[in-house]
Amino acid sequence: MTSFDPTIPQTAAPDVEFISLSHLNPSTELNPVPSRGIDLPYFRKYVQSLEDGGYDYTLLPYGSGSADSFVTASAVGALTERIKPIVALRPNTTLPTVGAQKLATLDQLTEGRAVVHLISGGSDVEQARQGDYLPKNKRYARTSEYIDILRRSWTEPAPFDHDGEFYKFDGFGPGFAPYESPIPISIGGQSDEAFEIGGAKADIFSFWGEPLDDLRSEIDRVHGIARAAGRTTLPRIWVTFRPIIAKTDELAWQKAHEYVAKVAETHRKAPRLGGAAPQNVGSQRALNFADRSELYDRALWTKTAAVTNAAGASTALVGSPETVAAAILDYVDRGASLVSIRGYDTLTDAIDYGKYVLPLVRQEIAHRKATGQRGTLQADHLGNHGPDYARYATAQS
Ligand SMILES: Cc1cc2nc3c(=O)[nH]c(=O)nc-3n(C[C@H](O)[C@H](O)[C@H](O)COP(=O)(O)O)c2cc1C
Repeated sequence: MTSFDPTIPQTAAPDVEFISLSHLNPSTELNPVPSRGIDLPYFRKYVQSLEDGGYDYTLLPYGSGSADSFVTASAVGALTERIKPIVALRPNTTLPTVGAQKLATLDQLTEGRAVVHLISGGSDVEQARQGDYLPKNKRYARTSEYIDILRRSWTEPAPFDHDGEFYKFDGFGPGFAPYESPIPISIGGQSDEAFEIGGAKADIFSFWGEPLDDLRSEIDRVHGIARAAGRTTLPRIWVTFRPIIAKTDELAWQKAHEYVAKVAETHRKAPRLGGAAPQNVGSQRALNFADRSELYDRALWTKTAAVTNAAGASTALVGSPETVAAAILDYVDRGASLVSIRGYDTLTDAIDYGKYVLPLVRQEIAHRKATGQRGTLQADHLGNHGPDYARYATAQS
C-alpha cells in the first residue's frame, strides 16, 4: 500500500481545463465510414455534447484533405454558447495578416472564444501537397515570424510595414481587432525548434500523452526557454490522451484489447505514411515510448501508438473513470493545466467523459482549492500501482 501524502506537489497546476477534438461525422478508427464529408446533425450533436459535458475547448484539426478549420471553428461558435474553438492553422496556408483578420473575425463572432494552434508541419510530403517546400527548421522559423505578425496585427493602432525573412508587406492595418484581448496562441510540435519558439513566444505549448517523468522534463525545458527569454508568464501546458474507460479497470482493459485489435486492422488496411517512419518528433517519441513499454505510470498505454504508427494523438489512458481521472490528476500535478481527451468511440466517449471523468477531476480541484490539500482519489484508485491492474492489462481477450 502506498502511503497517502496530501501535500499538493509544487509543480501542480492550480486549475485544469478540458479540450476535445471535434469530429465532423461518425467515422472512427474503430469503424471507418468511407466519407470525407460533414454530417451536420452528427457534428451539431457532438459539439453540443461537449458543451453539455462541461468541456472548455474543442480543437478543429487541419490537414490537406480535411475540412477547413476556420469554417468549422466558426460553426462551433454558432452551434454553442460557451465552448472555445481552437483553430489548427498551418502558416503555409494563410498569410499572417489574413490569418490575423480571420482569427479576429472568429473572436468577435464568438465574443472572445477564439484560440489558434499553430502547426508548422510534421511531414514534407503532406506540406508539398499544398505547395510548401520549406524544410522543417525553416517552417518553424516562419511560424515564429507569423506569431509576431499576428500579435502586431491585433494591436497596432496605425498602418505598419513588415520586411522579414518570409513575409513582406507595406501599410497593413490597423487590422481588425479581436473581441477584447489578444487571442491565445498555441504551438504543436516536439522538435527543438518547436521548444525554442514555443518557449519564447507561445501562450500554450502542447504535447501528446507521455510518461510522467518524460513530460515533466519537457515542461522544464519549455519553461526554461521561456524564463531565459525573460518571460514572467510561462506557457500553459496542454497534454493529450485517448482514454478508454469502463465501469471497472478490468472491464476497461477488455474494451482496450477489443479496441486495439480494431484500430490495428483499420491502420493495417490504410497505413499512415504507407508505413514509413514518421518525420515529426512527437510521433517518433510516441513510438519510442511504445518500444520501451506498453504500460507506464498509473494508466498510460502505448499499444494504441504502436499499432497506428503514432498517427496524431495516440497514447491511451485505460481504466475506470476514477482511475483515469486520477491519472489525469497525475499530469495536473506535473504542471498540465489543459487536458485534451478524445476517445476511439468518439461521440459516445465524449459524452461519457463529460458524465464520469470531468466531474471527478473538477471535484478534486475544488477540494484542493478549498482545503489546500489533495483529496484521496489518487490514493484510492491506484491503477497500475495496485495489485491487479497489470494482470488485466496483459490478459488478451
Ligand atoms: C495537441 C496537438 C495537436 C495537433 N494537431 C495537428 C493538426 O490538426 N494537424 C497537423 O497537421 N498536425 C497537428 N499536430 C502535429 C504537429 O503539430 C506537427 O506534426 C508539427 O508541426 C511538427 O512536429 P514536430 O515538431 O514534433 O516534429 C498536432 C500536435 C499536437 C501536439
